Amino acid sequence: MSLWAGGRFTDGPDDVLWRFTADPIDRRLLHVDVLGSIAHVSMLGEQGLIDTDDAATLADGLRQIEVEAVEGTFAFHDSDEDVHTAVERRLGELVGDIAGKLHTARSRNDQVALDLRLYLIRATKRNIDGLLGLIDALVSKAEEAGDIVVPSYTHLQQAQAVPLAHHLLAYAWMLVRDGSRFTDAVSRIGISPLGAGASGGSSLGIDPSATAAALGMNASFSNSMDAVASRDVAAEFVWCCSQAMIHLSRLSEDLILWASSEFGWVTFGDAFTTGSSAMPQKKNPDIAELARGRAATVIGDLTTILTLQKGLPMTYNRDLQEDKRPVFHADDTLSGSLEALTGLIGSAEFHPPAPDAWVTALDLAEVLVERGVPFREAHHVVGKIVSSLSADGATFADLDGAALVAFDQRFHPDDISRVDPIASVTHRVSPGGASMESVEGQIAALRQLLAGADPGRQSDNAV
Ligand code: ARG
Repeated sequence: MSLWAGGRFTDGPDDVLWRFTADPIDRRLLHVDVLGSIAHVSMLGEQGLIDTDDAATLADGLRQIEVEAVEGTFAFHDSDEDVHTAVERRLGELVGDIAGKLHTARSRNDQVALDLRLYLIRATKRNIDGLLGLIDALVSKAEEAGDIVVPSYTHLQQAQAVPLAHHLLAYAWMLVRDGSRFTDAVSRIGISPLGAGASGGSSLGIDPSATAAALGMNASFSNSMDAVASRDVAAEFVWCCSQAMIHLSRLSEDLILWASSEFGWVTFGDAFTTGSSAMPQKKNPDIAELARGRAATVIGDLTTILTLQKGLPMTYNRDLQEDKRPVFHADDTLSGSLEALTGLIGSAEFHPPAPDAWVTALDLAEVLVERGVPFREAHHVVGKIVSSLSADGATFADLDGAALVAFDQRFHPDDISRVDPIASVTHRVSPGGASMESVEGQIAALRQLLAGADPGRQSDNAV
């Protein structure tokens, strides 16, 4: 039954219209819809817009519906146009005609905008927790990695010697920023649109700041038209999900490469890899491949939610019903990817081979720089050594102190110790660089953040 039946309409809705316009996807908003309604009827009672007995009866009925929502026993009907209609219908079944007072000084336009924001606040917190879980797994693996040294890569060519832990922690810091982006977004998401009505507010003396406070939100809207028309906070949420998925996709790409026999850096647990139906030897990193693939679908969600708003006249338009699918999909995809990658990383055993000897070339050049040789010249000297050794099929590993000095008198025989990748890491002193001290400091900072120093975990106590 539609909410508009019996007024100006003599005909009921055609089946075609119903099939096209009613979309059960918003059933996911059931719980937050009820919470918003409880806050609304309490405010109506306090403002004397309905009498306090009626407000209490409505709130009792809504709390019963909340229980049904939480327990999963709430029964939707095909004839419920949307989640808001379903709740009002069910409230009527529970408390009778008085349910008709629920929608006093409210429209589905401000109601759905509120529901979406309440959903986004929860989803934001859940994803911050998911991010922290994966950060924790990366930090634990960094601790386990100890003094394992690997090459860093630029252009997918071996570059400098770095602790494996430093590489793993690079991802942890990306995820920290993803978490803080969600935290920042909550300051904007947490503005309540309830009380904006259909678009212009109400002639009844409602108190939007009271409902905002009851719902634990930061504040209420300043402009009713903006409140019902805008979905930028939903787009911001999907953007936060997209950037996090891009980071997960890059992590996944590394994990996939590292698991190849060509790299041979890592073995994942059987429980987190898949076999092949045809090739008995295969152990595939499907979790990482799917996280990488699904990043594309979340970028699609971002395109959808942005494009949805483009060209809409003020204020609410039914197009906005389409905001839910990209929000829910981006949320589910990020949450699922975080959970699966946390498991995959947790199961990882790292056993990378030693880097190529050349990863210490820059260290050798920096030895000369310490002796006052201009860097450009030092680069040239070491480049010549690399070229000469390569021509003979040799590497730094075949060089001794005397041969090094023979290349350039400004070297000392002891400098040969600097061509060792471990020595390279040991001599690294620049702040934030790939040294063991830096890694220890990063682990301590990240552990502190995981212990609760992250504002994203504490900022908001909205329902
Ligand atoms: N199902 C609608 C949505 O998601 C709810 C708001 C409907 N408002 C209206 N005036 N028809 O956007």
